[in-house]
Amino acid sequence: MFGLFRKNKKEPQVAVSLASVGVDMHSHILPGIDDGAKTVEDSVLLIRSLMDAGIKKIITTPHIMADYYKNTAETIGGALQQLKQHLAEIQLEVEIEAAAEHYFDEYFLELINTDRLMLINGKYVLFELSFTSRPFNVIPTIQQLTQKGLVPILAHPERYPYLSVQEVIDMRSWGCMIQMNILSACGYYGKEVKQSAERLIDAGVIDFISSDMHHARHAEALKQALAEPILINLINTGVLQNNLLLTT
Ligand SMILES: [Fe+2]
Repeated sequence: MFGLFRKNKKEPQVAVSLASVGVDMHSHILPGIDDGAKTVEDSVLLIRSLMDAGIKKIITTPHIMADYYKNTAETIGGALQQLKQHLAEIQLEVEIEAAAEHYFDEYFLELINTDRLMLINGKYVLFELSFTSRPFNVIPTIQQLTQKGLVPILAHPERYPYLSVQEVIDMRSWGCMIQMNILSACGYYGKEVKQSAERLIDAGVIDFISSDMHHARHAEALKQALAEPILINLINTGVLQNNLLLTT
């Protein structure tokens, strides 16, 4: 349906490059450890789509969730090693590191208290909230993280229907940075999510954009999203901070 709609457009937008964004810092491309890539071949397809879009460095972030994906430094490190070995074999050069996307649950609080978080560049903590219900204690947890010298990054606030723009502004004022999914710009997750993304962009609270790439359908949708005016404008305003993560 999207394909038909796009063909009828008279003046399709030219896709924007992600070269100026530089770093993709939220994805699920390690093989076999969460709901993302299943094999190294899947990983390569997703990596190539990011490279084709202009990405120079990939920081991939497997889920850590107590109930579903209890990944650890060992499982994530092992999958990264396996992928890097395969990339060397097929001579595909790309800068790739791994951290995690922490789900906001009791286990996340335990990892904070025991200093066992999987950090981006030694200080950034990517975390996601429930898609259905408002969690308690988000602001105190942000405070706890910043008091440890860490920088929390909230993943895809546009996807939480209960979260208002003002609440995102409040979280940001406590030192939490904000990451929007690129695919939200093309309506991949629905019209409401796209509208929410537009409101957050208008409020000036988006610090990072990223693919949140899991599978080939996301790779296809990425091309579509890169032609969306709201994303093109966001990239061209120069407010995005992805390049902060270029060097460790
Ligand atoms: Fe994710």
